[in-house]
Amino acid sequence: MTTPENTQQQPAQETVTDPASPDAPFMRQIKTYVLRAGRMGSGQMRAFEQFGPKFLIPYSAERLDVQAAFGRSAPLILEIGFGMGDATAKIAQVRSGDNFLCCEVHEPGVGALLKRCGEEHIGNIRIVQHDAIEVMDHMLGTDSLDGVHIFSQTLGTKAATTSAA
Ligand SMILES: C[S@@+](CC[C@H](N)C(=O)[O-])C[C@H]1O[C@@H](n2cnc3c(N)ncnc32)[C@H](O)[C@@H]1O
Repeated sequence: MTTPENTQQQPAQETVTDPASPDAPFMRQIKTYVLRAGRMGSGQMRAFEQFGPKFLIPYSAERLDVQAAFGRSAPLILEIGFGMGDATAKIAQVRSGDNFLCCEVHEPGVGALLKRCGEEHIGNIRIVQHDAIEVMDHMLGTDSLDGVHIFSQTLGTKAATTSAA
């Protein structure tokens, strides 16, 4: 229903487009992770040197040539946040016909998965040590993915521990 209140014209708001301007609206960059402190073991550090050149893809704000990165064309699965990579390694070995692009920001986890990829010759994994949101935004085309994996066995373990207590 029209009332005198809601027919009143509000003054037009000036849109501030320069984010550096003091008048710009408050912008929050949401992150889905907290970078945990954690020391890398010597095996994980060696894995960066030994296996990094084959399995690591540096983050870049440019479209990734997926076929060149994997050396083959296959359905592409993005995994977000693989932790230490145990499930990732097993799944990639079972699903050898798929390519797995795996993002993690936790460096010891990246080292651990690199070690497994190298030692177990898991050829269908590539790792980007970067925020998966930015990887999706910049490195992947809109229709480039055939699936997305997000696992949280850590949460499952916690839930199981809590319910058993
Ligand atoms: C709850 S843990 C789960 C780890 C593993 N998937 C598992 O099931 O044990 C979530 C992981 O996701 C990572 N993570 C969260 N947001 C991320 C993002 N935007 N990009 C990359 N990694 C992310 C964190 O660093 C963390 O290791």
